[in-house]
Amino acid sequence: MSFNICCVGAGYVGGPTMAVIADFYPEILVNVVDINEERINSWNHKDLSKLPVFEPGLEDIIKRARNKNLFFSTDIKSGIKNADMVFISVNTPIKKSGVGAGQASDLRWVESCARQIRDFSQGHTIVVEKSTLPVRTAETIKSILEFSDNKKDDISIAKTYSVLSNPEFLAEGTAIEDLKNPDRILIGGEDEKSISILVDIYSKWVPKSKILCTNLWSSELSKLMANAFLAQRISSINTVSAICESTGANVAEVSKAIGMDSRIGDKFLNAGPGFGGSCFKKDILNIVYLSRYYGLGEVADFWESVIKINGWQRNRIYKIIVEKLYGNLATKKIAILGFAFKANTNDTRESPAINICNNLLKEGAFLSIHDPKVEPNSILKCFKGLIGEDYSQNNIKIEARIIDTVLNADAILILTDWEEYKNLDFQELSKKMRKPAWLFDTRGIVNVDEIKKTDLKFWKIGYGN
Ligand code: NAD
Ligand code: UGA
Repeated sequence: MSFNICCVGAGYVGGPTMAVIADFYPEILVNVVDINEERINSWNHKDLSKLPVFEPGLEDIIKRARNKNLFFSTDIKSGIKNADMVFISVNTPIKKSGVGAGQASDLRWVESCARQIRDFSQGHTIVVEKSTLPVRTAETIKSILEFSDNKKDDISIAKTYSVLSNPEFLAEGTAIEDLKNPDRILIGGEDEKSISILVDIYSKWVPKSKILCTNLWSSELSKLMANAFLAQRISSINTVSAICESTGANVAEVSKAIGMDSRIGDKFLNAGPGFGGSCFKKDILNIVYLSRYYGLGEVADFWESVIKINGWQRNRIYKIIVEKLYGNLATKKIAILGFAFKANTNDTRESPAINICNNLLKEGAFLSIHDPKVEPNSILKCFKGLIGEDYSQNNIKIEARIIDTVLNADAILILTDWEEYKNLDFQELSKKMRKPAWLFDTRGIVNVDEIKKTDLKFWKIGYGN
């Protein structure tokens, strides 16, 4: 193998991204390393259904590349030492305390990763920021790398570095497809030679016209802004859903009409319970923090409103449920369909389901929860530290079958847009429920004509009547 890549961080980004690189480029050796032993063991699990990340198409790639030119390990030192290029793909959550708490990124994992690279690397190493980072983080990384000790005995060649930014735009649930056919690959940096090495890797399967090279700071900022623009569209359409419900318009029709304008486009116009996932909120908060730091208060307020609307939409939905169920959820059972933050992923980070379910628990409801991919323990963990935690022990049951989930329930609440929820036999399900029974469709996925054939009362997001 002539070229050696190490990726630090075997998460939702590191694992799938490196798997695709290894698959398209068998001549490159790819080592994915992580401090989390359990995660690495899962990546190495013989049973591919036990991989730590569920993504359509991922298992096939892992089957082809693992232990050929793709390796998962906790041996961070060797991984970095042998690498020509190190990807930093670690988590970058929001700071919980101290300066910038609640808005700024917590860079402790990025910093520790930079120190590992400084301590373990040999010769020239291209360091690639794959994590989503605040603008000018490359400066922090460079300043840590500057202090490499070139005098240690075991160093035969002097350590040198060049730092590139190469943010990831994959979305969970479609990660493999996004990685195989990206809209663009963005590379920010100054060192032409390193840039061209990274361009060559992607060129193996991405047309050169889709590979965009910019300066470091534009690259870092573009990643944050792309997420902010996407999230802004969701908040916008969610405000429209409320107007539709008040006026008798239908948000699905309005979305279609708006989206057919080629200047607007039809993507990311589905109203729902608000955006979830680990990144939209944190990346916008980062922009808010950055804007305030540079004295751009109005800019910060503009982006902050996207997050405010997101929280408002969740609360609005929860209040509608309480109101429709006569203002009382005590002694009522609500069947929750879907807990992942979107379909085709087992990820629950920032899922709208967490907040909505917690509020329902606080009202005294009993929740039976179904999700096709999220592990029961992962669902229960989401209630840790929340006000509903005390109740969650006795008032939550995780079910494997939809029919058991709805048994004697007073309402069905669809929270994730899983394909299998779109064409359920609601006539049959309704028979198992306590009457009067409700269906709340926060994803706008059920067929209203079919529901009208049942004795279910129903509410669908943005469906005014
Ligand atoms: P993740 O939490 O799933 O994975 C990060 C991994 O890094 C963890 O397994 C953790 O143990 C490991 N880690 C942390 N510090 C380490 C260290 N010093 N040495 C070795 N391992 C270390 O996170 P993720 O969802 O993969 O996201 C990673 C980054 O990519 C974030 O910055 C995120 O904003 C960005 N991003 C995420 C997505 C997504 O869909 N999840 C998409 C695009 C970009
Ligand atoms: C998002 C971006 O789409 C990726 O480009 C980016 O790389 C990634 O964040 C990241 O940086 O982490 P992801 O969060 O995985 O990807 O999933 P999305 O498809 O963007 O969905 C985010 C949330 O918005 C989900 O809760 C989804 O249900 C919701 N959504 C999405 C809507 O409510 N309506 C829509 O029309 C689209």
